[in-house]
Amino acid sequence: MNFQDKIVLVTGGTGGLGREVSMAFIEAGAAVIVTYRNAEEFGALAAAAQRIGAAPSAGMSVDVTDAQAVEKCVADIVAKHGRLDILVNTVGGYAGGVNLWEADARTYEQMLGLNLKAGFVLARGVVPQMIKQQRGWIVNIASKAAVDHGAGGALYAASKAGALALFDSLAAEVKEHNINVNTVLPSIIDTAANRKGMPGADFSKWPKPEEIARVILFLCSEEARVIHGAAIPVYGKT
Ligand SMILES: NC(=O)c1ccc[n+]([C@@H]2O[C@H](COP(=O)([O-])OP(=O)(O)OC[C@H]3O[C@@H](n4cnc5c(N)ncnc54)[C@H](OP(=O)(O)O)[C@@H]3O)[C@@H](O)[C@H]2O)c1
Repeated sequence: MNFQDKIVLVTGGTGGLGREVSMAFIEAGAAVIVTYRNAEEFGALAAAAQRIGAAPSAGMSVDVTDAQAVEKCVADIVAKHGRLDILVNTVGGYAGGVNLWEADARTYEQMLGLNLKAGFVLARGVVPQMIKQQRGWIVNIASKAAVDHGAGGALYAASKAGALALFDSLAAEVKEHNINVNTVLPSIIDTAANRKGMPGADFSKWPKPEEIARVILFLCSEEARVIHGAAIPVYGKT
């Protein structure tokens, strides 16, 4: 896939999945702006891009739950590039393993902040610009837990289900504006953090972040214009 004329914002773009999404867009020739929280992780991404003779367009240290910071980030991108074509939001977090009545208020705030508020703040930040352009693609990463609500993960599931609803509604709202909005639902991804957390698991069954990245790039391509308001499962065979 060729993204040579595209300006892409990957939030959480140095994380387990985000890094592969950033790299895939960079390899496909896009101008990729990556948000990060850890400068070392952004340095590692830039070094990996350099090894294939490329580079991210910019790295920005942004808390995506902070509306002012996100507004500034989008304004800076538009000032430099004149537009913003694609947002892929890979920011999120997991907490679980306890029953709902044992979960604390801090975890509630964390789950709702990372998995729901971040999407709200980012959508508010980018959609007005995409409407102005009459062009755009948005992909939000939720989770299988958004549609499959098991025991021991109520706050996570509720926050991801909320995000799915949020982007579904957004999809309905922007139909007239040539903006595609879709959600991706991973189950467990083969990341370093998951391998460390579940050393006894069969890693071969877990979808690889680069495989999910390819699905995301397809959703952001001209070829996928007919996919809108969808929730795409990327569970592999798990
Ligand atoms: N991994 C899985 O098995 C799995 C399964 C289902 C769904 N998902 C979803 O897939 C997405 C990506 O998962 P992942 O495994 O790649 O997660 P990850 O490795 O933790 O990456 C998330 C990235 O977002 C950053 N971030 C966290 N809070 C932020 C904030 N307030 N502002 C800006 N950036 C922030 C993190 O930075 P720090 O590292 O500094 O915190 C990290 O770089 C998430 O939405 C996750 O919920 C993952």
